[in-house]
Amino acid sequence: MTESTPHSHFEADWLSLREPVDHRARAESLTEAAAHWLAQRASSEHRIVDLGAGRGSNLRYLASRLARSQHWRLIDHDPALLGAAQRDAATLVDPAGAPITIETDTLDLNHARFEAALDGAELVTASALFDLVTREWIERLARACADRSAAVLFVLSIDGCIDLTPAIADDEFVTDLLAAHQRRDKSFGTALGADAPTVLRQAFEALGYDVSLAASPWHIDARDAELGAALIEGWRSAAREQAPDAGARIDAWARARTSALRANALVIRVGHQDLFATPGP
Ligand SMILES: C[S@@+](CC[C@H](N)C(=O)[O-])C[C@H]1O[C@@H](n2cnc3c(N)ncnc32)[C@H](O)[C@@H]1O
Repeated sequence: MTESTPHSHFEADWLSLREPVDHRARAESLTEAAAHWLAQRASSEHRIVDLGAGRGSNLRYLASRLARSQHWRLIDHDPALLGAAQRDAATLVDPAGAPITIETDTLDLNHARFEAALDGAELVTASALFDLVTREWIERLARACADRSAAVLFVLSIDGCIDLTPAIADDEFVTDLLAAHQRRDKSFGTALGADAPTVLRQAFEALGYDVSLAASPWHIDARDAELGAALIEGWRSAAREQAPDAGARIDAWARARTSALRANALVIRVGHQDLFATPGP
């Protein structure tokens, strides 16, 4: 996941681990707004493009909640993740109980002409992607969506609010290192990290979109200990890369936080924002 993984290649296991917590966190009101918007469209088949689709978590969440008759194009640069997404999606149905049509597209979204992959889309969606990209890339994406009059549903973009309760002395030390690490180049250029929700809103509003944002935070406690432990391990690794001389201090922090989580003595809140936007008239 983007909060923990130093580079833009993601472990299938990590994506599976986060999926139930992602689904729990998402802002239902924006999914409902997207479903309503699609249902008003005259098309006989709704074409949806999922950017950075990974193992298909976003598809699994949305398929039964969006309008009937869906065709999905899943885009990712990792063909193994897309293969897993397609296998797992075989039994998915839309709200009317009809099968979903799915195609996969192994594509580097940093490619000079990625926009062509959006052709025909009524709804462009993505989950946990935008902290990796740049302002310039989001502005290109916004123009491409506007050119196609597509609505967008972009969920689970980190907003930089991380709370560990109860706090200990080095929480801020590590989360500051993490925030700096999140801005490292993930292949697109200097990454937006926690600025992504603001930049998304600005880019789509500038093109006349009607934009709604809603919070979609993770709440992780002992019931999600495996995810929480993996998250802390990801933060440890990112913080060490950012401050190699502080390795022992960072390791001690990670041990203390993992133990507290497993002992039901720690709650972690990771802030995200969801965004739904519809093109102007
Ligand atoms: C945090 S994961 C989210 C995956 C999925 N949307 C989900 O919610 O589980 C980010 C995804 O973006 C993909 N990705 C990262 N950089 C990419 C690029 N340059 N082109 C295409 N996909 C990319 C990764 O392979 C990964 O599947």
